[in-house]
Amino acid sequence: MMRNLIAIAVLSGLAACGGGQETATDPGATKFNSVCKDCHGPDGQGQGRFPKLAGRPAEQLAAKLRQYKSGHKSENMSDTMRPFAQTLSETEIDQVAAWLATR
Ligand code: HEC
Repeated sequence: MMRNLIAIAVLSGLAACGGGQETATDPGATKFNSVCKDCHGPDGQGQGRFPKLAGRPAEQLAAKLRQYKSGHKSENMSDTMRPFAQTLSETEIDQVAAWLATR
């Protein structure tokens, strides 16, 4: 009985966190705004020589970020991105990429 009550309390706690404040609490948004926004612009819309990231497939963005992070550059990749990609954990790469894809 006690165990059921605890389970219900935990579940309703989780439900209370869902929805509503997606933009304010999205970890990808928080990371982007603190590390990436100055170059890639608000919401990753791009500006000047900084490419637009918004609305691109999350897998593609995450793959690029992992490539920058590892230092295995290809095509048009400069050294600019590497230190910023390296501030992201594997989880954060997925979070930022997923958030940008929805912009
Ligand atoms: C100091 C400026 C600067 C910051 C900060 C920065 N970037 Fe970049 N980023 C660039 C430039 C310049 C390019 C263009 C390609 C290159 O130079 O390698 C780029 C390219 C990219 C690309 C590849 C785009 C493409 O079309 O190939 C991705 C993805 C990306 N940045 C994501 C991010 C994320 C996520 C962050 C934050 C963690 C970030 N960038 C922070 C300057 C920056």
